[in-house]
Amino acid sequence: KILILDFGSQVTQLIARRVREAHVYCEIHPNDVSDAFIREFAPKGIILSGSHASTYEAEDLRAPQAVWDLGVPVLGICYGMQTMAAQLGGKVESGKTREFGYAEVRAHGHTALLDGIEDFRTPEGHGMLKVWMSHGDKVTEMPPGFKLMASTPACPIAGIADEARRYYAVQFHPEVTHTVQGRALLERFVLQIAGAKPDWVMKDHIAEAVEAIRRQVGDEEVILGLSGGVDSSVAAALIHRAIGDQLTCVFVDHGLLRLNEGDMVMEMFAGKLHARVIRVDASELFMRELSGVTDPEAKRKIIGKLFVDVFKAEADKLKAGEGGHKGATFLAQGTIYPDVIESGGAKTKKATTIKSHHNVGGLPEQLGLKLLEPLRDLFKDEVRELGVALGLPPEMVYRHPFPGPGLGVRILGDVKREYADLLRRADAIFIEELRQWKDDATGKSWYDLTSQAFAVFLPVKSVGVMGDGRTYDYVVALRAVQTSDFMTADWAELPYGLLKKVSGRIINEVRGINRVTYDVSSKPPATIEWE
Ligand code: XMP
Repeated sequence: KILILDFGSQVTQLIARRVREAHVYCEIHPNDVSDAFIREFAPKGIILSGSHASTYEAEDLRAPQAVWDLGVPVLGICYGMQTMAAQLGGKVESGKTREFGYAEVRAHGHTALLDGIEDFRTPEGHGMLKVWMSHGDKVTEMPPGFKLMASTPACPIAGIADEARRYYAVQFHPEVTHTVQGRALLERFVLQIAGAKPDWVMKDHIAEAVEAIRRQVGDEEVILGLSGGVDSSVAAALIHRAIGDQLTCVFVDHGLLRLNEGDMVMEMFAGKLHARVIRVDASELFMRELSGVTDPEAKRKIIGKLFVDVFKAEADKLKAGEGGHKGATFLAQGTIYPDVIESGGAKTKKATTIKSHHNVGGLPEQLGLKLLEPLRDLFKDEVRELGVALGLPPEMVYRHPFPGPGLGVRILGDVKREYADLLRRADAIFIEELRQWKDDATGKSWYDLTSQAFAVFLPVKSVGVMGDGRTYDYVVALRAVQTSDFMTADWAELPYGLLKKVSGRIINEVRGINRVTYDVSSKPPATIEWE
């Protein structure tokens, strides 16, 4: 196994992710763990992460002595390289300029780490790497025993190696995808140099996570808000695997879910997994409170607040020990790693609120419950893989994201049950066709080729003709986007044939809608949802 010592970089989890991708088991621990801990951990290799700090400011940000005494391979990344150099007798200086972003690094001297790994060759025959840099300080003198492994014009010592001791360090970040060969480099370190065994699979993660949940929860009880989304579903399945009936899921149906979604969730969790699930039909309450409210932000706030109220009422019942329960002391959430980063980063660089996102933040304090977040270290695709390994159906796990306020933000303006019913049916037709239409070139369905697709209800009426009669009915807009991060998105160039089929089916099958339009706006300046 590999030990990753974290010096406080935002991307340390990415190192762990790359190591897991090489099927090697790893753990992240703070940089100041004790020497005894490191010895007991007995790593095959150690990776020192980057940091926000500079080596000068932070005397306490050092690698423990055991790192150097153990005789195992060590890889320093960015700050990890600087502290390696400083601790082993080299020199680090504060750079006058920060180097940030894309850089081309020249590889030197045939090291076990970089040999044969390159993106291109210069006319002179130098092997070059395309990398991502982010640093102010730099190593200006190598420690005794080291040789130069990489350089750039701005950073002459961008990589060093002491092959006798198997110490390697790079100033750039191999863990981010912008460093093209980063994955190959990390894999080389953990597999070849450290000799770790590539035998870690998702099944092992389940076993470890189940153990950890049992340790944390003991014989106490847990409640979880099931939304039908990927993250809460996978969290529920995992926790249920660990503690069975000590988990109670509360599924708040706000009446703004997709067609048959509530039944599907119940069938899966109550039916197949035999989990305890309480379904709360709160649609009356939501419709009543939303009635007459047209402002998107006001709608979001109402839905968010009601959701918390309803959930809290259920949780209080469980806490009071109703229905044979002891009372829950834990609240489980499907928080995943990007959420952790986002909420940490949001404090410093939060700009104006474009949309107030619906989540249950603040709930645990209000409820006086401890938090259980078994997915906190995982990325979205790892969560999906975990879900499939836990036996959840791939269609559920690979579903497009669905916003917390549900159809509430896809019915423009005033929300009515009648509108929600029409929208649900139109949306289901669109999704069904997207799943069926395959792209010739890739063989993939258009559902898989798009990141998010849905129908939007427009409460305006237009004139149409059907048979011999005039119609005067509502409009639906179709939205389909492609994006990797949901921060920017392009509208998807769906085949005309597909659009034609969808519009024909909606207008024929959903009485009350007589016009279908396709949204051809990118984000920015438009957003993905209409509200
Ligand atoms: P926008 O519309 O801001 O959406 O471009 C970006 C992504 O966020 C989703 N979204 C939400 N997800 N609660 C959520 O859990 C919300 O309140 C919410 N609002 C938007 C949206 O579906 C898209 O994937």
